[in-house]
Amino acid sequence: MPRTPFLAGNWKMFKTGQQAVDFIREVVPLVAGRAGREVALAVPATALFQAAEAARGSGIAIGAQNLHWEREGAFTGEISAAMAAAAGASLAIVGHSERRQLFGDTDEWVSRKLAAALGADLLAVVCVGETLAQREAGRTLEVLSAQLRGSLAGLSATAAGKGLVMAYEPVWAIGTGKTATKEEAQETQAFIRRELSAMGLPAESIRILYGGSVKPDNAAALMAQPDIDGLLVGGASLKADSFAAIVNF
Ligand code: PGA
Repeated sequence: MPRTPFLAGNWKMFKTGQQAVDFIREVVPLVAGRAGREVALAVPATALFQAAEAARGSGIAIGAQNLHWEREGAFTGEISAAMAAAAGASLAIVGHSERRQLFGDTDEWVSRKLAAALGADLLAVVCVGETLAQREAGRTLEVLSAQLRGSLAGLSATAAGKGLVMAYEPVWAIGTGKTATKEEAQETQAFIRRELSAMGLPAESIRILYGGSVKPDNAAALMAQPDIDGLLVGGASLKADSFAAIVNF
């Protein structure tokens, strides 16, 4: 089954609602000519509504960067999948390494957030990746395998086929300017696909994105790898021209 290339920006804690609107107005004409690619922007929760309104009809999907797994409740500061969807999100990032490292997200929490996202009909972009210490200790595959099994626990093949997108983001490559080489990324992503298959999931139809210091000048080489089906872009997604150059790789 062909896997439609998926190019997603992750704005992290950057941009107000108005800045999101300005960005989208600027980027839409720059990416308009591209058929057969899915384009998405994960924006701060405060910008979801305005971004979704601005992107309406453009083909650019708007997403949340995190969710709580409950539908509602006494969880100060959190938003639910249903709330993100009502504000205009059609996807959510789940288990980004910054959530895992700075805010205590565990594999178990990620699995609950994933279920909540899919339950609200959001596409879920589930992130996994090893730290530098884990890579240097030769533990990359073991770490990824454990993250995959924990984060995707309880996920059915049908739900995965409908709404799961994976992202491999080596922690040492995020925001550091140090990209995994295309060979390293390919080898690791082929391993992730084999693991998905071993877990009984429809691995051949699940997109696996690469993330970590993606820039306009390395996007095409990464996308040429057979197991890299898209890119998750942080820093380079903050400017319309560099994000457009990546989308149009
Ligand atoms: P970066 O971030 O492109 O700035 O390295 C990627 C990410 O964290 O998703």
